[in-house]
Amino acid sequence: MLPLKMKLFILFFFIFATIIVVFYGNSYILTAYQHSFFYRNTSLCACDKCLMEYDPWLSELMEASPEPFLSVTNYMSEDIFNWWKRIQRDKRNYTFYNKTVDKIFHIFPPNVGFTRPSPDLCRTCAVVGNSGNLMGSFYGPLIDFHDIVIRMNRGPTKGFERDVGTKTTHHVMYPHSSTNLDNTTYLVLFPFKTYDLEWLIQSFTQRYVLCKVNTSVMILSPAFMKYVHHVWLKRKGKYPSTGFMTLILSLHMCDEVTIFGFGADSGGSWSHYFEIFRNKKFKTGAHPGAEEYKMIEKLHKKKTIVFFKGW
Ligand code: C5P
Repeated sequence: MLPLKMKLFILFFFIFATIIVVFYGNSYILTAYQHSFFYRNTSLCACDKCLMEYDPWLSELMEASPEPFLSVTNYMSEDIFNWWKRIQRDKRNYTFYNKTVDKIFHIFPPNVGFTRPSPDLCRTCAVVGNSGNLMGSFYGPLIDFHDIVIRMNRGPTKGFERDVGTKTTHHVMYPHSSTNLDNTTYLVLFPFKTYDLEWLIQSFTQRYVLCKVNTSVMILSPAFMKYVHHVWLKRKGKYPSTGFMTLILSLHMCDEVTIFGFGADSGGSWSHYFEIFRNKKFKTGAHPGAEEYKMIEKLHKKKTIVFFKGW
């Protein structure tokens, strides 16, 4: 016969073991528990709330992401190159593309304008799209209040300060939408074809160019474009819009994201705050505008981002 103490020990051991097996047996619960434990005990950023705080849906999407920017250690694979070729007319091959990128990294220093998350940092960002709903919004001071202000394409500030602000730390563009930037603004190039990379070299090295660039350049990786199209938008539309890719990029660059200037007009077109929109048939072009908008609303509802809808 076993002594009473021993019997009790064995009984409690089995109860404890059963609880562990039931609780940990389900891998989803295990992952959730590990995440919540991790996030409760270590701070991801120095803001009151960090956007990457535990959310299994968001974590899964973010974990599928490749490195967002091209660098000497992050060249594009041939597989991604073949996807990229489908959204352009440029016929030059993969070897030519790689030679062009080599030249770029001889000129431009790597890893500028991008800080990794840290418990000591609170990177607040405003992402400013070009929607006409910014007109009359009085968002200017609120936009300027953010540490990082990302604008895109032709989006001007001069003459629109009251509604869009004055500060631009990062400006996303490609050659057709390029504007001159001042020395305090990073150019974030979204290359849609090999020519766009050649344009970057010319704009830096040649004297007479429409747009002069300095060395504060970040180049979005086409692998990131493919990721946004396949993972976030489930391959809807031909490829994602500049604005939507910028928003997803901001989730990597920021701890708090507030967005302004997104949303079609009453005719369903992406009209702009800085001009009278004439091409009524444009709608949202080759981009899955409705799908992108649904995702923006979902991110807002989940409190991952804050979305100011304008007027
Ligand atoms: O028109 P453009 O591409 O310069 O605008 C930048 C981005 O702003 C778009 O790619 C789109 O994501 C967003 N936009 C929008 N609604 C508009 C105009 C632009 O959501 N009416």
